[in-house]
Amino acid sequence: MKVAPSILSADFSQLRQDIELIEREGADWVHVDVMDGQFVPNITFGPNVVEAIRPHTSLPLDVHLMIVDPDRYINAFAEAGADIITIHAESTDHLHRSLQLINQLNVKSGVAINPGTPVSAIEPVLDLVDLVLVMTVNPGFGGQSFIDSTVQKMAQLNDLRQQHDYHYAIEVDGGIKAGPETVRCLEAGVDVFVAGSYIYGAEDPAERIAKLKAVGEP
Ligand code: DX5
Ligand code: ZN
Repeated sequence: MKVAPSILSADFSQLRQDIELIEREGADWVHVDVMDGQFVPNITFGPNVVEAIRPHTSLPLDVHLMIVDPDRYINAFAEAGADIITIHAESTDHLHRSLQLINQLNVKSGVAINPGTPVSAIEPVLDLVDLVLVMTVNPGFGGQSFIDSTVQKMAQLNDLRQQHDYHYAIEVDGGIKAGPETVRCLEAGVDVFVAGSYIYGAEDPAERIAKLKAVGEP
């Protein structure tokens, strides 16, 4: 399993140190939550923050766009140094076109679904993406509780992947900690675990990364 700490819960006054810390401690990706105050009720980072952190880590920057009409900013995030750009199915009227836009750039593409959105909403685009992000909380804030009904969507995505030989990774985001939910996600076929408050909210983030990784070890 891969662990992608979300810098939404980092200390923004020392973002560079907080990113260097997780890289040292075995994180696999850096998860960057971009919020516009419209798609979700919170505002965070723009492309200039991605550009600022880019030189300070060799880890892939996993950019999760929670913004309306993402086409407007896809290019800017790619140029800023994003490695993966994930857009929400609910945020664009032309999901297929938006994903094509990402695929034309030198970055990996992802599609995200909110807890209230079924897998069927993204079935027609599953052959286009490198990543499917199953939101396990309603997006907008860190520190919320994992929503159980999302697990069956992970299993469904895993089945579709096997049936059609799709290559996407399955990622979960929201309320992840080293507990029974994570075990169930793993069993359902999840590859990448985003964790914000569990890692950055702890006295010892290194210990939390190790604990999370240990769940995935036999
Ligand atoms: C939620 C964000 C998450 C958030 C997760 O809107 O997409 O990435 O940082 O935070 P935790 O792990 O605290 O639920
Ligand atoms: Zn996220």
